[in-house]
Amino acid sequence: MVGKICGTGSYVPPRVLNNDDLSKIVDTNDEWIRERTGIGKRHVAEAETTSWMAGQAALRAVEQSGIDPAEIDMILVATSSSETVFPCAACEVQKMIGAAGAAGYDLNAACTGFVLAFNAAQAYISAGFCRTVMVIGADSMSNMIDWTDRSTCILFGDGAGAVILRAEEGTPVYMAAHSDGEKAPSLTGLSRHRRGWVEELEEGAEKKSFIHMDGQGVFKFAVRKVPEVIEEVLEEAGSSLEDIDYFILHQANRRIIEAVAKRLKTDVSKFPMNLEEYANTSAATVPILIDEMNRKGMLTEGQKIMLAGFGAGLTWAATLFEW
Ligand code: COA
Repeated sequence: MVGKICGTGSYVPPRVLNNDDLSKIVDTNDEWIRERTGIGKRHVAEAETTSWMAGQAALRAVEQSGIDPAEIDMILVATSSSETVFPCAACEVQKMIGAAGAAGYDLNAACTGFVLAFNAAQAYISAGFCRTVMVIGADSMSNMIDWTDRSTCILFGDGAGAVILRAEEGTPVYMAAHSDGEKAPSLTGLSRHRRGWVEELEEGAEKKSFIHMDGQGVFKFAVRKVPEVIEEVLEEAGSSLEDIDYFILHQANRRIIEAVAKRLKTDVSKFPMNLEEYANTSAATVPILIDEMNRKGMLTEGQKIMLAGFGAGLTWAATLFEW
């Protein structure tokens, strides 16, 4: 058995901050941000919490699929920015959608989280442990951002996306995943609790960045490791780059995606992007893009789709499945 997508949904907050808005907060401008990242705006939560946005995306996926929420037996929420450490966001989603029979938990691998959650769901289904799994990526990066740090605040946005997988006979799903804890300092985000602790230690220090990032280091990592993990999955599947209809990559930076396409000698038109509108919503980028493509009618039965994520950890992963 494999998990086939039978419904998708997404939610982004209505409040929009475009690049000109940011130029009033920090020393930056629309031209710099667009040229270096491809980002034009980001949606930012006001009253919305991470788990509430996850629930909204899930409700939309349930509505589209037409399934009874009682059929869902597992809810996985990939997030690194839930408003509570416990209970987990998955339990909040369960309550919101009325999936009384579901087990659920959150998992955190930052921006790679959704791809890993999707892989976990596929493993549960192929093992016969679950039949219907809700997989969500949701993050409110605006809560972690230091809005005075121009090197990071321009990159991120908030949102959530969800897919429902249902067990069916079908072409196997192929996946690969990696981590490199040695490279952890390249990209770190501090929880509110730990933030206070660090500020105490750094008393008097002016810098209060909650996300620390070696931008160029992360850029190089992504451009090297994403093609590698895609090739790894293709080799395992006995498929080639030409067989793939779409490469749905984590939406961090247009230049990263273009460089990955170039390394793979594949036309960039096979790499859909929506980061101009939403920026990097961390674990939510991939499912938001899947939902947009699905609702536009771009995804049809039998297409081969490659997902790939990368981010803090460092972590990176890819999955090949048939729509
Ligand atoms: N606006 C204007 N200037 C800015 C700026 C901003 N928002 N942020 C930085 N700069 C300045 C720097 O201070 C620097 O100035 P200097 O040359 O006078 O020192 C200059 O722009 C170049 O900075 P640099 O950091 O070298 O730019 P870059 O080309 O590496 O681009 C990133 C920076 C962050 C856009 C890029 O490294 C990147 O996208 N990395 C990947 C990050 C990512 O995707 N992280 C999430 C992964 S999940």
